[in-house]
Amino acid sequence: MRHITTPMASEVHMEEAGDVIVLSSNNYLGLADQHEVVDAGKRGLDRYGAGTASVRFICGTFDVHRTLERRIASFLGTESALTYVSCWNANTGLFPTICDEGSAIVSDELNHASIIDGVRLASKARRERFRHGDMQDLEAKLQALGDAFPIVVATDGVFSMEGDLAKLPEIVALAKRYGAIVVVDDSHGTGVMGKTGRGTVEHFGLTGEVDVITGTLGKSLCGAAGGFIAASRALVDTMIQRSRPQLFSNALPATVACSALAAIEYLDAHPELATRLRENVAYFRTGLTRIGYRPLDGQSAIVPIIVGETAFAIAMSDKLLKRGVFVTGFGYPVVPEGTARIRVQMNAKLTREEMDRALAAFEAVGKDVGLLG
Ligand SMILES: Cc1ncc(COP(=O)(O)O)c(C=O)c1O
Repeated sequence: MRHITTPMASEVHMEEAGDVIVLSSNNYLGLADQHEVVDAGKRGLDRYGAGTASVRFICGTFDVHRTLERRIASFLGTESALTYVSCWNANTGLFPTICDEGSAIVSDELNHASIIDGVRLASKARRERFRHGDMQDLEAKLQALGDAFPIVVATDGVFSMEGDLAKLPEIVALAKRYGAIVVVDDSHGTGVMGKTGRGTVEHFGLTGEVDVITGTLGKSLCGAAGGFIAASRALVDTMIQRSRPQLFSNALPATVACSALAAIEYLDAHPELATRLRENVAYFRTGLTRIGYRPLDGQSAIVPIIVGETAFAIAMSDKLLKRGVFVTGFGYPVVPEGTARIRVQMNAKLTREEMDRALAAFEAVGKDVGLLG
């Protein structure tokens, strides 16, 4: 772990390396230090104190929880929404609550660990994995489920290690054909994908057609912490009544709720942020390709460069850090052996000058380690 001593932003101060450009954060819109977002949190702290000292249903619901949940629902175009202290909690609360005896879950093999653990907790459900993004395999798995009910298809919106998107139009069509409901964890898509940053569902023009969207407040939407389930009122009411992290764990701190609310308002008022993010992704991808890298294709703000062995990825990340660029190398077991990678994550506030400096570091390090000619 590295130790940062300033707010999360395009450039931070790090104890171990001094001032560095950050290409490793989920702060896609750069709202973590946006003053409207920070000030809202401060006002929240003054108004509500440090926290609820309770789970939601006992005495842990402040009015700002309701305001935030209504705002998340209207932002995503669902009937209702419910917050959790993390998306991890939302995902591990969701699947065991809706999938009992006789039900089935079909999950993309590269889904995030929180979906995997959520599905594991639904121990009475029949559980199947389909090959990543393989619609024929998904259909084959759905066909084999017989009269299971309900059937849930679970997928990330944007896959965090690959940066690619779920094939949502096909998934939604298959789900309709086989009477399944679709759960999309759009933690890396919210604020990033779609014209106005409403996520992968907006990107594909499917607003209103995905049954359940889960997501985090710990990435684009202020970067603090917190998660949510956005869905029909009936499903959200069921979560309030029965999902265990909701019943037995404290509420989202009000300060965080206030910051997240301000982040959504800010994004709504500044849709150009999502446009700027896309422009930065395109600029950086083009730059990487020009100097000789071959990043994985994709439309999200995640740009992975596969380099092979774990030690190699980590050594490369260390060398980049020495040149003032903080970008993490990922290896086994986070990704399959032999596919270690440098995962670049862009943000809307990076300037051209910062991106050019980062590209110069990538070029020098690529030559140094023998990846570039
Ligand atoms: C796809 C996905 N889902 C869920 C989570 C967990 O989010 P949180 O930090 O809110 O628990 C993450 C975090 O990395 C993620 O990438």
